[in-house]
Amino acid sequence: MTLTLTTAGESHGPALVAIMTGLPAGLVLDREAIDRDLQRRQQGYGRSPRQQIETDRVDVLAGLRHGRTLGTPLALVVANRDHKNWTWGMSPWRPEGEPTGKGTKPVTVPRPGHADLAGVFKYGLDDVRDALERASARHTAVAVAAGAVAKALLREIGVGVAGAVVGLEELAGRVDEARKDRDTIGGVVEVRARGVPPGLGSYATKDDRLDARLAAALMGIQAVKGVEIGDGFALAELRGSQAHDEIVAGLHRETNRAGGIEAGVSNGEEIVVRAAMKPLPTLMRPLQTVDLATGDAAEALVERSDTAAVEALAVVAEAAVAFELARSARDKFGGDAIGDFVAAHTAYLERIDWTPR
Ligand SMILES: Cc1cc2nc3c(=O)[nH]c(=O)nc-3n(C[C@H](O)[C@H](O)[C@H](O)COP(=O)(O)O)c2cc1C
Repeated sequence: MTLTLTTAGESHGPALVAIMTGLPAGLVLDREAIDRDLQRRQQGYGRSPRQQIETDRVDVLAGLRHGRTLGTPLALVVANRDHKNWTWGMSPWRPEGEPTGKGTKPVTVPRPGHADLAGVFKYGLDDVRDALERASARHTAVAVAAGAVAKALLREIGVGVAGAVVGLEELAGRVDEARKDRDTIGGVVEVRARGVPPGLGSYATKDDRLDARLAAALMGIQAVKGVEIGDGFALAELRGSQAHDEIVAGLHRETNRAGGIEAGVSNGEEIVVRAAMKPLPTLMRPLQTVDLATGDAAEALVERSDTAAVEALAVVAEAAVAFELARSARDKFGGDAIGDFVAAHTAYLERIDWTPR
């Protein structure tokens, strides 16, 4: 029994969609809790006015009845409210009538740091928009909704997941300075998960390793260029005698340099992972590029864009980590009904005589 997540949706298309399979039946979902996470994703210092246009809310098309999962595929939808300005430009079907609204003219000027040029080469596109619409981080909204579902499942076994910006106190100043220079910034986020029992993930195959799953999930988020588990890169500078977490009575650790994972398996300590975000590539002071229609030097398009999205990344990364922990928990504890899943977790903690700290 594993959990899967597939998302679909373009930035200015009608809606973003996620399908989750492998959820147990009987899990209670709280629409407000999911919407709260969607709103957290839209906030943060340095975001653009697009976030006010959207005010995301989740809808469910399948897999849920009266607020409880049915154990069938769960279909989540987040509408793109901005689509009303793009009904011709982003019409899924051949549009009828005269071009109107946004997105009616082909984009031929690829922006450095985005999917634009690689997408044109790879998919044989005439309009860069066909690449940028999906490559945009807009669809992280529906991934956050799926993450909120994963967090509801994890709460059933006492696991809590929280993401935050590292160095939040310096963020506003960095954003203000960058905005003044019509520039952008990146940053680092950290996600911590408490109450994770020892034994999630496996060293048996690389695909089952919890650290590999978390790294892939975080790297799968737009603009993430580095991932650390525990003390990560800093461990490379240390001697072995300083780098490992000695085992003490109660089979706990006094330190947590490993970030709660050894050999791809959770060891019962807090899970700690970090992700580094590059500065956002759309600058109000445009970068140099080439117009594909003429071959001439050009300035990159300036679409309405954030100065920083690192606080949003913290929420998206939290969702990604929650999903992977929930997936590994489903792999370990199985169960068709939520009660089976919780009972398997309880029986396992009894077998290993483990009390979460
Ligand atoms: C939550 C979030 C919001 C983002 N907002 C913007 C933005 O407003 N402007 C921008 O240029 N890039 C933004 N990005 C980054 C781009 O989506 C990303 O750099 C681009 O898709 C290229 O992918 P890559 O950085 O993974 O190579 C955002 C990323 C995230 C995670």
